[in-house]
Amino acid sequence: NKGNYEHYMQKEIHEQPESLTTTMRGRLIRGGSCKAKTVLLGGLKDHLKTIRRSRRIVFIGCGTSYNAALSSRPILEELSGIPVTMEIASDLLDRQGPIYREDTAVFVSQSGETADTLHALEYALENGALCVGITNTVGSAIARNTHCGVHINAGCEIGVASTKAYTSQIVVMAMLALAIGGDAISNEARREAIIDSLFDLPNKVREVLKLDEEMKELAKLLIAEQSLLVFGRGYNYATALEGALKVKEVALMHSEGILAGEMKHGPLALVDENLPIFVIATRDACFSKQQSVIQQLHARKGRLVVMCSKGDAASVCLGGSSRVVEVPQVVDCLQPVVNIVPLQLLAYHLTVLRGFNVDQPRNLAKSVTTQ
Ligand code: UD1
Ligand code: BG6
Repeated sequence: NKGNYEHYMQKEIHEQPESLTTTMRGRLIRGGSCKAKTVLLGGLKDHLKTIRRSRRIVFIGCGTSYNAALSSRPILEELSGIPVTMEIASDLLDRQGPIYREDTAVFVSQSGETADTLHALEYALENGALCVGITNTVGSAIARNTHCGVHINAGCEIGVASTKAYTSQIVVMAMLALAIGGDAISNEARREAIIDSLFDLPNKVREVLKLDEEMKELAKLLIAEQSLLVFGRGYNYATALEGALKVKEVALMHSEGILAGEMKHGPLALVDENLPIFVIATRDACFSKQQSVIQQLHARKGRLVVMCSKGDAASVCLGGSSRVVEVPQVVDCLQPVVNIVPLQLLAYHLTVLRGFNVDQPRNLAKSVTTQ
């Protein structure tokens, strides 16, 4: 049921304040007078000790689910101190990459049925790793075959392009990082800042959804383009990959997410006054590096749209004539949840304006159950 919306993707983008609320329900504890704020993931509580003892955490997934895991890698490394590596399921299988008994392998999948991810799970089980699932579908193959896990509880997602499941996956993985990180005093202020920001996140997403019309106007300017680059780094490298994936899969426009730190090692050759480039430059530890990237793109007359934190327009428009998209600021590790929303809206409007099928893009399936 699409309610008042024209498409499922549109509905699912706009219901993110509610889906995020459901994802967090019963899992965040505010803490009384003497009790610190904390998270409770029922599906993991008996396994946290084993996870904390593991030598490595390996995230495994495909498509949007892989991107969600990538955005959560820095906070998991920071809070747990355990090395975190990333695997695209098919690539792990192609290489028959090493997986050990001392590893915790985390399988991220909205449907819980993706063939590549499921085969990678069988492979990790054979190799003796502790296997954790993060899925939206209760009773799915991944939920059943993992040792333990967390349901993201985002509600049924129908649009082939994943939107609300992506943001809920990021929230679950931030909670996972908090749970694995435990209650070290040294991290207490950081943990509380993240939990406070989680409580407020649905409001911030409601606020960023007000950019709908602005993103439709931007889509009108981009409607006839051949290509769109998206630059990000740090927490928002994943946002660049996921934004580009949305544009590619539904708007059928070539789009690439680029790690801004790699700009000088190739991508800079593409920059001219025609190619549109979206730069994510919200406030975090990488901000000044992104300012310098923007300066260098300006120097080559790049056609920029810069996403920045509210109030930062002047700090990112360094003498150039870029368009600016201002978004509300949240704690750095949750900023990808806010930042993806304008890109989801852009992909949606581009698709409708270009006259393509938003909910069922050509050649793609919601759940890829063959290899
Ligand atoms: C569970 C209940 C929820 C109830 C809550 C009350 C289910 C599905 N969830 O939620 O309805 O309100 O307790 O305390 O009944 N699991 C995996 N692999 C996965 C995902 C989950 O093995 O990929 C396992 C978990 O380890 C856990 C179970 O499935 O044993 C349920 O997981 P989850 O729904 O996340 O647990 P709770 O949030 O505690
Ligand atoms: C398909 C979907 O390719 O599978 C994508 O079209 C999705 O949207 C990918 O990200 C992985 O799916 P899942 O269910 O494992 O998260």
